[in-house]
Amino acid sequence: MNRRSFLKFLLSVPLLGAVVLFVSPLFRYLKPTAGPFPEGMISKPDSPKSVKNITFPLSDFPKPWLVQKFTYEQNSPEYTRQGAQISRIPGFALRIPGKTDSDYQFVVYSRICPHMGCIFNYVPDPSVAAAEYNYRPPSGLPVFACPCHFSVYDPLQMQDGMTGKVVSGPAPRPPRHFTFKIDAASQQLVISDLEKGGIS
Ligand code: FES
Repeated sequence: MNRRSFLKFLLSVPLLGAVVLFVSPLFRYLKPTAGPFPEGMISKPDSPKSVKNITFPLSDFPKPWLVQKFTYEQNSPEYTRQGAQISRIPGFALRIPGKTDSDYQFVVYSRICPHMGCIFNYVPDPSVAAAEYNYRPPSGLPVFACPCHFSVYDPLQMQDGMTGKVVSGPAPRPPRHFTFKIDAASQQLVISDLEKGGIS
């Protein structure tokens, strides 16, 4: 090979590379290697499942206005390549007054504030609600309240067919509710599922 041919050869290498770089994505666009996922392979978005039920003996709530904290785990199968993501959601189970002393009534909420996702608190003392959350409950009864922007939820008042009415602050709706039942045989509160949806 003489010098001229050798230089031509050297110049042609980057040129060839540029052509390949340009043509390759074009071919991939015209003939993609990945097709759509078959029907049924992807779970519907926003369809998490509980990992296990949360239970409390009713004896943990000997009288109204006692609360228990819990952490609920749910599995969102659509979020990762491994096919599972466990998220942990803090919750409150609160016994509210019933018709008699042995009438167990509850509200069970996610503690994630529907405004912007802070974790809200149980505030049994109305003077603390007034001093720290800028709201004095006229009933003098406990409320839930968020430290970020002072949304306050009343577990005895209804809004849009749900308990936990927003009585103060910017939250657009009551907290997300858990599904629960009282198992008469085992005398337990059984919390099984969380209302679907995101922050608000
Ligand atoms: S995040 Fe709770 S009031 Fe804003």
